[in-house]
Amino acid sequence: MVDIVPLSSYPSNIHLLPSVQTCNITNLPENYFLKYYLYHALTWPQLSFVAIVRGNKPEKYPKVVGYVLAKMEEEPTDGIQHGHITSLSVMRTHRRLGIAERLMRLSQRAMAEVFNASYVSLHVRQSNVAALRLYRDTLGFEVEKVESKYYADGEDAYAMKMDLTAMQIKDVPEADGEDADEGGEVGSMGKKGDDGKGGKENKEGKEKMIKVKVGRGLGVGDLVERNESTKS
Ligand SMILES: CC(C)(COP(=O)(O)OP(=O)(O)OC[C@H]1O[C@@H](n2cnc3c(N)ncnc32)[C@H](O)[C@@H]1OP(=O)(O)O)[C@@H](O)C(=O)NCCC(=O)NCCS
Repeated sequence: MVDIVPLSSYPSNIHLLPSVQTCNITNLPENYFLKYYLYHALTWPQLSFVAIVRGNKPEKYPKVVGYVLAKMEEEPTDGIQHGHITSLSVMRTHRRLGIAERLMRLSQRAMAEVFNASYVSLHVRQSNVAALRLYRDTLGFEVEKVESKYYADGEDAYAMKMDLTAMQIKDVPEADGEDADEGGEVGSMGKKGDDGKGGKENKEGKEKMIKVKVGRGLGVGDLVERNESTKS
């Protein structure tokens, strides 16, 4: 059975990164340093997913059979918040099972819902029929432009994008009236008239004092290194 799990978030599958890198090297000529995968996983933990096959023994690492590595565009030239698919691949043994489609849909949803992305972009080789079919026919991407000699070997790329605005979470109802809990003014803690809980003064107009325990239960002496060879 193939499971699709987030690469990071919780529980973290970050230990699978070297296997994700192997899956990339096996399937694509565009490869990256491990730290680039790590950067994705740490910066946008919601956007990257791995397809895994678990072994019979729980102590064995699962086998990575596919992944999508995705990010948010950090400095969008058009000024519009959007996501980008850095890399996608599925091992030959597990192709045409809908894994890539599922990986892509999970990442796209997270881009829109978590980061409010308006669209998702990617590059694909003009000769990559399988990926083109997946992006254009299955998922609904459109070719935005051709980028000449985009790849290191001189092949042109289709720059593609897909609108995500329908997936964005809009009109989140705001609590108002009695339900609203705005807490105390930022930085108000400890100021005169503040009870430390966002409230102000008690009925008598006096500052409300709360007793709090200070200090450690454990004596500092217990933390001091001792010479155990001599009797104290
Ligand atoms: C492209 C790739 C990721 C597709 O992975 P996959 O898990 O086999 O794809 P899916 O099973 O989700 O396919 C979904 C749809 O994509 C299209 N598709 C996928 N592989 C195809 C192929 N070899 N030929 C034609 N269409 C294909 C089909 O429309 C398919 O739907 P269908 O199976 O119902 O006909 C995989 O072939 C791969 O890893 N290739 C090498 C790496 C690569 O090119 N990555 C993309 C870089 S931009």
